[in-house]
Parts: sequence; structure tokens; C-alpha cells
Amino acid sequence: MNLSSRIGGIAPSATLAIAGRAKALQRAGVDVISLSVGEPDFDTPAHITAACIAALQRGETHYTPGAGLPALLEAIADVSTTRNRIPCTPDRVIVTAGAKDAIHQAMQAVLNPGDEVIVLTPDWVSYEACIRLADGVPVFVPVDPSTFQVTDALLEAVTDRTRMIVVNSPSNPSGAVLNRRSLDLVADVCRDRGILVLSDEIYERLVYGAKPVSLGSLPGMEELVVTVNGFSKAYAMTGWRLGWAVGPKPVIDYMARVQGHTTSQAVTFVMHGGLAALTGDQAPVEEMRRAFDERRRYILGRLHEMGLATAPADGAFYAFVEVGGDDVATASRWLDEARVAVTPGSAFHAPGWLRLSYATALPRLAEAMDRVAVL
Ligand SMILES: Cc1ncc(COP(=O)(O)O)c(C=O)c1O
Repeated sequence: MNLSSRIGGIAPSATLAIAGRAKALQRAGVDVISLSVGEPDFDTPAHITAACIAALQRGETHYTPGAGLPALLEAIADVSTTRNRIPCTPDRVIVTAGAKDAIHQAMQAVLNPGDEVIVLTPDWVSYEACIRLADGVPVFVPVDPSTFQVTDALLEAVTDRTRMIVVNSPSNPSGAVLNRRSLDLVADVCRDRGILVLSDEIYERLVYGAKPVSLGSLPGMEELVVTVNGFSKAYAMTGWRLGWAVGPKPVIDYMARVQGHTTSQAVTFVMHGGLAALTGDQAPVEEMRRAFDERRRYILGRLHEMGLATAPADGAFYAFVEVGGDDVATASRWLDEARVAVTPGSAFHAPGWLRLSYATALPRLAEAMDRVAVL
């Protein structure tokens, strides 16, 4: 059948086949410990769920304005301004069906065929796909492999066709948080050349050291940064499909056009849950962060005992581990011989590394480490 070559070009990565194999083994009753998941193992805090149910019961089942529920737009503008120090008003906000949808819309809104988008690697898998879906050209630039900070290689990668730089701090998969020097390197080149930044800050609440700085808060960057954020990770709301972007009004307006002709808007009663998440009790976020931190310390300790080097792990919920050689073969061996599923670094343009998610209860993490230690 004649199908779209654009979609054919974004076929799922062969390295993700390991996750599929792990699931098949689990279905067959094999006790596989999966450290490959990218979602919190906690349930959504009860007050958020209650707000959504109450909205449904009140009959909040109708269309809202395309950019989102006005009260939620205001709450996001407020959080962006006060917590992230990004100057923001509600007309610079769009609520989307998850952060992923915001990334997709931003690429659609900004890119023309052949525009180059620099992606700092290791990188989360969907940036490349979203760039290609918008007929853009991804240009991969590695960060320093020992510090995971941005290097001058970024400047060498910039051409007259560079339209955007994608930054993800804290990073999936490395857990690294970009320092001020890295952010300045990005900001300086963007100010000089009028290049936009897509700053994916979805893990900003899950940090274990210094608070990350938003690129959009740096002087002169308000009109150059589209900041993407969401509810999935901080509030354990992956299945709700709710995220947002804040940024220059022309970009947000174009994103709203895309949204207007595709999903129309995020789900109305789900947005009421999001409103409760942002304006209600933040204690559950801190409880989850502490639990992740405990697991993080544990897993890093065990990996270091095994003589394995790891990336900084200052944020998110991933340990990024250097195993050298063929990471796909190593991940396969861990699955076959230890029944521990992890994601090969090749999936993130980082061959020789493995990503281990510690969004798994401590006893299971301990069991996984015991199994891997004796390989
Ligand atoms: C770096 C990064 N950005 C965005 C997302 C997507 O989040 P959402 O569930 O809000 O679409 C993920 C999810 O894994 C992620 O790791």
C-alpha cells in the first residue's frame, strides 16, 4: 500500500525492541523487573483526581477556548512568572494534550521544510520524530560526555539554516541539569542569530541539587524561548495527557491554530484536575521527589559498587550508566540472563550507555541490582 514516506521515516527504533521483548516475557509469566519505564509509579494525588471528578459532576463537559481553560492559563502564567522567572501572561500560554503534543505543535508552528534544528544529545526520542514530522532536519550535537554540559561544539553546528535549538534540562535520559555556563552558551548564540529555543523543562520539579534555571528567564530571551512543561512527571499524571507551552505570542498563536484543527483543545474536566494540581497542595510533589531521591542514592551506590560510571543524575528519575561497547547487546544480556529490562543508550544517540529508570519501588530496585551484580 502507498503510505506516507514522512511517517515511514520515523519508524520505531530497533533498540526499543528490548522493551517489547520484556513485555512479552512478562506476559508469559516471567518475573522481569522493568527499569525501562518513563513514568512515576505513584498514583495521581487524591485532591487532583477529586477536582476532575467534581468538574465532571458539575457538567464541565463542554468546549473551552482553544488555548485552554482561562483559569488554567492564568495559573500557568503565574507559576511560570513566579517559580520559573519567565515573564508570562495568559495570552502567551497554550494547554496541550501532554508535553509531547506541545513539542509537536511547536515544531509545526515554527519550522519550514529544510530548517535545521540542533538537538543536544543524549536526547529523548520524540524530538527527532517531531522535527521530521515538520519537515525539519535534526542536527545532533553531543554534550560533554563527562560533565553532560554544553560545549563549543554547539557553536560549530550553527548554520544559516539553524532555526531552533532543543534543550532538555533536567535531561531524559542523562538526568543532568544544565549549569549557568551551558545556558549562557545557548542563550548567547540564540540572541546573536535570532534562533529559537525549545526548552523542555518537564522534569524541573524532580531535582536533587541546585534548582534548575529556566532558559526563558535569562535576559533578552522572552521572545526566543518556547518553554514546554507538563503534569505527567511532577504530579504523576501521565495518563491524563496534559501539558503546556509558554512563549512568544506569535508562536503560541500558531500552535493554537494547529491545535484548533486537530484536537481542538485539551480535555475540559482534565484541565480542572490540572488547575487543582497547580493551585492546590504541593506536598505530594515533595513526597514523590524525596522517594525518588532515596531510590536514586540507592541505585547509584549499587552501580558504583559494581565499578560502573554514571552521568550526574541531578534530576529526573533515570540513572544513565556507562557500560561501553555494544549497549544493545548488553541490554539484551541483562534481560536474558538477569531478567532486568533497561533501555540501550543508542535509543538516545548515546551508544555504550544504558538508561535505568528508578521510578520503581526500592525492594524491586534492590532485587534488580542483585541480579545484575552477579552477571
Ligand atoms: C523529556 C521529556 N519530555 C516530554 C515528555 C512527554 O511528557 P507528556 O507525558 O507530558 O507528553 C517526556 C516523557 O517521557 C519526556 O521524558
